Amino acid sequence: MWWPGDDSLLRVRPRDTDWEGVRLHVVTGKGGTGKTTVAGALAIALAAGGRRVLLMEVEGRQGIARLFDSPPLPYAERRVAVAPATPTLPGGEVYALAADPEAALVEYLEMFYNLRHAGTALTRLGVVDFATTIAPGLRDVLLTGKAVEATRRRSGGRLYYDAVIMDAPPTGRIGKFLNVATEVSGLAKMGPVRGHADTVQSVIKSPQTAVHFVTVLEEMPVQETLDGVAELRGLAQGGLQLGGIMINMVRPVDLTEEQLQAAAGGTLDEHELDTGLKAAGIEDRRGLAASLAAELTEHAREELAQRAQRTRVAEAGQPCYDLPLITDQMDLAGLYRLAAALREQGAA
Ligand SMILES: Nc1ncnc2c1ncn2[C@@H]1O[C@H](COP(=O)(O)OP(=O)(O)OP(=O)(O)O)[C@@H](O)[C@H]1O
Ligand SMILES: [Mg+2]
Repeated sequence: MWWPGDDSLLRVRPRDTDWEGVRLHVVTGKGGTGKTTVAGALAIALAAGGRRVLLMEVEGRQGIARLFDSPPLPYAERRVAVAPATPTLPGGEVYALAADPEAALVEYLEMFYNLRHAGTALTRLGVVDFATTIAPGLRDVLLTGKAVEATRRRSGGRLYYDAVIMDAPPTGRIGKFLNVATEVSGLAKMGPVRGHADTVQSVIKSPQTAVHFVTVLEEMPVQETLDGVAELRGLAQGGLQLGGIMINMVRPVDLTEEQLQAAAGGTLDEHELDTGLKAAGIEDRRGLAASLAAELTEHAREELAQRAQRTRVAEAGQPCYDLPLITDQMDLAGLYRLAAALREQGAA
């Protein structure tokens, strides 16, 4: 992680992670900032060292299947990737689950109300309509409940998964999504749903769970992150733990500070650029130095704007991690690079 004023971004750290003791990692953020991608990278990072982790999505959009280039996932846990072994650590396994809210609801109703046969009479949609009308919030409880069940699952005397990573709803909906006990408070004061919701809540609001935010260094996503952090801080009094801020798609700066300032101010020495181009053996330099200078100016201004956003991100007061922009196609190799970045910064 980095903190404001800490410039040792690339310091390689041994595996003493910042989230020791956290077993359920919830990943949220503004839409399109890379939640699914970062959740996948975090899963790979956490799997390293012979661990078994579950990556779970809750919106039924098959984002994980796309990420791992695999066919659509059924509502069942499937192995989608292995974490690479390192000289000091054995590899690990990443399982994935696309938790479809409708299927979770039908499963739940069948289990507790013996609606197996009703399920065939009522259409699936009918069941869902029925349940969302009488029990708003129930869908969310079932989804968070699935994550909590996987987190607590035991097999052969040990925990089945070392960690569960949830690719969660975006910032605008995360507070409600995680605040399950309140959301189902309209339901019976007793009974299976109530008991279930209480168990789920006790895990979510425990040190075993952390909520991470993904953002990019742009005005709106940063604002949503700050708003989301503030909202969850409100819930934090009940024990909800805020996690890290994953700054995604960070572009490298290939200018010195001096060059950066000059370029941003539009005072780059074009003559110097021209000399450089000449030295590089470029013949037809007419106009090239000028357009190069214009491009550098834009690049530098963007970088300064991103720095300003970084300062705002730091206001959240949470540990931050940088994830590089993958300029080639985002494939498994890219995902492993993001996972390595998270590991190097101590996130996993
Ligand atoms: N570090 C990165 N470098 C390059 N491309 C990235 C990076 N992170 C994410 N992307 C790309 O950005 C796009 C959005 O990513 P992703 O689907 O993970 O976002 P999301 O927040 O889950 O979106 P949604 O809100 O739709 O679920 C994808 O095309 C993904 O490949
Ligand atoms: Mg997504």
